[in-house]
Amino acid sequence: MDRMEVTETFAGISLPGHLHTKESLHFATTFPFRDSDVLIVTYPKSGTTWMQEILTLLYSAGDVRPAKTIPNWVRAPWLEQIYFKDTLQDTAGHRLITTHLPARVLAPALQQSKAKVIYVARNPKDVAVSFYHFHRLAKFLPDPGSFDAFLLQFLEGTVQYGSWFEHVKGWLGQRQALDIFYVTYEELHQDLRGAAEHLGTFLGLPLGPETLDSLERHCSFAAMRDNAMANYSLIPCEIMDHSQGRFMRKGVVGDWRQHFSPRQNALFDRVYQREMRDAALRAPWSM
Ligand code: A3P
Repeated sequence: MDRMEVTETFAGISLPGHLHTKESLHFATTFPFRDSDVLIVTYPKSGTTWMQEILTLLYSAGDVRPAKTIPNWVRAPWLEQIYFKDTLQDTAGHRLITTHLPARVLAPALQQSKAKVIYVARNPKDVAVSFYHFHRLAKFLPDPGSFDAFLLQFLEGTVQYGSWFEHVKGWLGQRQALDIFYVTYEELHQDLRGAAEHLGTFLGLPLGPETLDSLERHCSFAAMRDNAMANYSLIPCEIMDHSQGRFMRKGVVGDWRQHFSPRQNALFDRVYQREMRDAALRAPWSM
């Protein structure tokens, strides 16, 4: 199946052109955030969809109906995408918004408000593997070529959405200026209920045991894989070639071990140590 391959370049980063335009990106970086807004911020493949689902369940007090009837891109629309203006509900209460944009382009607009930011990070080795597989089904991303070639681009930061290192360091650097809740994909894996309780406290939401029971059930990998409102199976085949794999691929920690050669691993560790030397990152992975 042919690729769409239209690219928008913004602030030195390539983005899929069928979802982003100069106008949509300008709108995003000048967006008037409200104090009640809640922004999910991630580098791609770090647990974005998972966090969208978790927050949906937290705000519905465990009622699964919104998560089962409304697509996730409507429940928590993407700030930088062309559909954002028309999709964002003008509710008086909280608005869930999602973004992959780096801090250097978004922080100035965010700092004008007291909006809450939830940053999800994931072991970049697993991010690279997940992103590689996602390129194979996402027709709006370039052909990734071999895993080896893709990994080099990932480490150089020349993949779409830019550098993982810049993304994580940029958002961590905003911890004094913004109200940020930082959590990792691995922590969600290890203790979803505990993470949801911390999120509830951060968001000022009282959570009963029934809410947490429902959230745990509904936000499991198996439940989300089967939820058409979260698993991207509604996206037409010209945009996502579902014959190439599933968006909800494996959902595990440490899949990189099945993909990395010893040479690739040594190179990755070297680049990671150089890039993250001065970053105060609380990470459950070691390199
Ligand atoms: P894998 O490709 O490693 O399986 P994003 O939503 O940021 O694009 O991230 C997608 C990744 O999160 C995919 O990783 C997907 O399977 C995983 N994921 C989504 N929901 C999950 C869940 N409930 N539990 C574990 N992993 C989940």
